[in-house]
Amino acid sequence: MQELLTSTRLDPYLALFLGSLSLVAVVWSILWLYFLPGGRGLWSWGPRGWRIPMVLAGILPVALAVLGFLPIGQTVQRGLSFAGAGLGLFGGLSLGFSAWRRRQSFKNFVPPLGPRLLNLQKGLRVQGEWRLMLTSDPHFDSPTSDTGTSLALLRRATKIPVQALVILGDFVERGIAGWGLTLKILREGLGTQVPLVPILGNHDALFGGHKLFLKAFPQQQTSSGSPWYYTWDVVSAEAVSVRFFVLHLLWGTETFDQAQHQWLERSLAETPPGWMKVALSHCFFASSGWTDGQRRPWFDHPETLAEVAPLLEAGGVSLVVSGHQHHLEYLSYRGLRYAVVGAGGAVARPVTHESPASLWRATRNKGSLVLVGTPQGLELIFEDEWGKELHRVQLSPKT
Ligand SMILES: [Fe+2]
Repeated sequence: MQELLTSTRLDPYLALFLGSLSLVAVVWSILWLYFLPGGRGLWSWGPRGWRIPMVLAGILPVALAVLGFLPIGQTVQRGLSFAGAGLGLFGGLSLGFSAWRRRQSFKNFVPPLGPRLLNLQKGLRVQGEWRLMLTSDPHFDSPTSDTGTSLALLRRATKIPVQALVILGDFVERGIAGWGLTLKILREGLGTQVPLVPILGNHDALFGGHKLFLKAFPQQQTSSGSPWYYTWDVVSAEAVSVRFFVLHLLWGTETFDQAQHQWLERSLAETPPGWMKVALSHCFFASSGWTDGQRRPWFDHPETLAEVAPLLEAGGVSLVVSGHQHHLEYLSYRGLRYAVVGAGGAVARPVTHESPASLWRATRNKGSLVLVGTPQGLELIFEDEWGKELHRVQLSPKT
């Protein structure tokens, strides 16, 4: 080895260039991830174990190549230059190749036949009472999810039947895979009978998965022009009419920018008088939950309760429905009612913190919320996947 190093030349400047390839690729990858939809949320809330290895992969090759300039003996110098250049080349090519493969898989994804989507511009126009089913977080491609439960819920939607099914995100586990399977299961369970309103979840958006979400569920024009936040209506001649506000909250308020803030205030003010207002969001507001290994509270989400909830309270919203937490719950906080409906198939974590706002909770049940529009207002029926009623609440329009 020593002879090889003595007889082989590697320009230290070339070694430094090759060593820095890994640093460039690491910096590019981190910036790319950070600026994706949900990237800032992933940075705050996601796992952190990858950070030290990633920083080492960026800095170590350059550091070795720099040490190769020091006058510490020709063999050692050359060894350091070779090590820096080799590691830099390996890191740069590995990250570059995985970015290229990801790009190719996005480009080549041809969605199979999926469910019928609700026309968001038209919404629903009904004569009398109406029913919607709301559930979330099926995580269809996760090995720990219960696909049988998810399918039972989809079939229940066709059996009731409801006028539309709303799934509030986390169709897949890692964003970049599982969309073909998701569409096939949705088609199998719903057929073409019940239209779907799909909402993006934090897992769906991982690693650029939001692009596959748009391919899987090609959106028509929305009321706001954004595919992530918009309103849609259920208008009834004899029962209550409701305007739904789909919010773009993936992990917390990281995606709640100025444009969405202004849109929400404007849309709340423009809702016809007498209609009820319901907000739909992947990320939770009030909920029970737990504290994770880094002592982060996955319950009563502080940022959304401080920044978004006051807008909803002032705007006359009656109910906020969210997923993210994998259970069913009903809560009341500062005059607003909250329903957590993340029991669409994914495994539920044990709840160690019961929210003081909680009025009812079913952590062992999978299930959904059936929202019934009646002449008196909204009826909320929490059901398990087989249609067994678990809890029922009546909500009157706000005066
Ligand atoms: Fe989830």
